[in-house]
Amino acid sequence: MSILLQEALFLLLPTILSLLVLTNLVKWRRKKKLNLPPGLAGWPFFGETFAYLKPHPATSIGQFMDLHMSRYGKIFRSSLFGEQTIVSADPGLNRFILQNEGRLFECSYPKSIGGILGKWSMLVLVGEMHQDMRMISLNFMSSVRLRTLLLPEVEKHTLFVLRSWKQDSVFPAQEEAKKFTFNLMAKNIMSMDPGEAETENLRLEYITFMKGVVSAPINFPGSPYWKALKSRSAILSVIEKKMEERMQRMGSHGKAADQRGDEDDLLNWALNHSNFSKEQILDLLLSLLFAGHETSSMALALAIYFLQASPRAAQELRKEHSEIADKKKLRGECGLNWDDYKQMEFTQNVINETLRLGNVVRFVHRKAIQDVQYKGYDIPCGWKVLPVFTTVHLDSSLYSDPHDFNPWRWQKSSSSSTSTNYFTPYGGGPRLCAGSELAKLEMAVFLHHLVLNYQWELAEDDQAWAYPFIDFPKGLPIRVRAVT
Ligand code: HEM
Ligand SMILES: *[C@@H]1O[C@H](CO)[C@@H](O)[C@H](O)[C@H]1NC(C)=O
Ligand SMILES: *[C@@H]1O[C@H](CO)[C@@H](O)[C@H](O)[C@H]1NC(C)=O
Ligand SMILES: *[C@@H]1O[C@H](CO)[C@@H](O)[C@H](O)[C@H]1NC(C)=O
Repeated sequence: MSILLQEALFLLLPTILSLLVLTNLVKWRRKKKLNLPPGLAGWPFFGETFAYLKPHPATSIGQFMDLHMSRYGKIFRSSLFGEQTIVSADPGLNRFILQNEGRLFECSYPKSIGGILGKWSMLVLVGEMHQDMRMISLNFMSSVRLRTLLLPEVEKHTLFVLRSWKQDSVFPAQEEAKKFTFNLMAKNIMSMDPGEAETENLRLEYITFMKGVVSAPINFPGSPYWKALKSRSAILSVIEKKMEERMQRMGSHGKAADQRGDEDDLLNWALNHSNFSKEQILDLLLSLLFAGHETSSMALALAIYFLQASPRAAQELRKEHSEIADKKKLRGECGLNWDDYKQMEFTQNVINETLRLGNVVRFVHRKAIQDVQYKGYDIPCGWKVLPVFTTVHLDSSLYSDPHDFNPWRWQKSSSSSTSTNYFTPYGGGPRLCAGSELAKLEMAVFLHHLVLNYQWELAEDDQAWAYPFIDFPKGLPIRVRAVT
């Protein structure tokens, strides 16, 4: 038997060999023809993922990008997150990728993100379903709503946090910023009031959840990812309870939005303006809570950090807000309105500069859904593509002295270069951040009351790190004094 088999193999060998050579030749030919960007793959499977994710100060591009860019230039290939990847630090290519969402490229986050944020989360959905959810979010944060409803809400939540601060005490500013944006989102998403036990419990649960979103997706009892999955279901059950109460009331009183006032929230909006299933609405609310809370609180913490290190910027900011406040006093007005907000010009420079230097969202995940060519390079269909924003925002050919915190560079008359075209703190194209206007409003209003009421200094050395999510390891401990 075995001899027969051997003989058969022996006879077949030439055929097998030539087939092997042929297929390899075809593959090799194909590869030869492809002009892939330069780069290495690193270790099998993990590739260079760990090097890529290695923590570094948030105001730097990190060793990985430094090394690879000096070796290969602004476009290179690597193996990241278990996939063949093209990394782009090229402003033109980044723009091209963002603008061609849905045509040449598509949003493609690692599976673990979908596991935690939910399969209906806006961050992982593509196509029509993404469009529908995006519309709901955009309408909810429309400019009319921003002016009339959200502005007073933002101010109320700002004061709620600032008024709890005690003179000369030391506390972690990062946590205060998180409280502010969490309370605001919880209120606007499902009418939960700040300070109440239910809201505080949800906030604490959410902190556990966050730790898992950003940790390695290793699911064994006790791991951060495992805890996060548990928190996810705890959070969802809170939202679900709210939803059921709401649906019951809608059943008995007709549409929920008839009861205007305190329940003009996203939950009502989604129930009234969409035919999404319960599961879909749950994921929508959770992903908005995530997208809207984590980013803007870190942006605020970064502003607090940069301003204490730049007294001249803090002083100019205080001047701008004192003038606004003085004018309001003369007119006998209280409470900020949209005209006041529009006068906060230097504040907008501070916000842009904070996002440029701090880079809250450092890169986004995409994949090529067609074979794409760019500047002579081939990007094969199916490859992962990572547009990195940080490298562009810290590029000395686009921003002079890119490591300086210099809000004046954004002044219209300024001679130092600012390239708003390539400035993408909120991403771009069809997936441009749905909450960018709200984020700016939150930061401006918070900074208004912060500089008018307090002076602050670092109580202990701390700085923002990119893990790649941004975090102050010590929580940004500050000491505040009332402005006299
Ligand atoms: C300074 C604060 C913020 C920054 C830097 C930021 C940044 C970003 C970025 C870069 C994206 C694009 C992700 C991608 O293309 O894959 C994004 C998407 C998104 N952001 Fe923000 N964001 C901020 C605040 C907010 C706020 C306050 C909300 C309000 C709820 C929000 C809601 C969203 C949503 C819903 C998306 C998904 C949009 C879509 O896929 O169509 N963001 N954000
Ligand atoms: C709620 O939805 C109904 C129809 O589904 C609509 O007639 C009504 O105007 C909506 N309410 C609001 C406040 O948009
Ligand atoms: C909502 O309704 C439209 C048309 O009425 C339908 O095409 C769509 O699939 C529905 N969406 C969901 C999530 O049920
Ligand atoms: C800040 O950046 C945005 C892009 O996110 C840009 O549209 C805006 O003009 C910039 N603001 C200033 C004052 O340059």
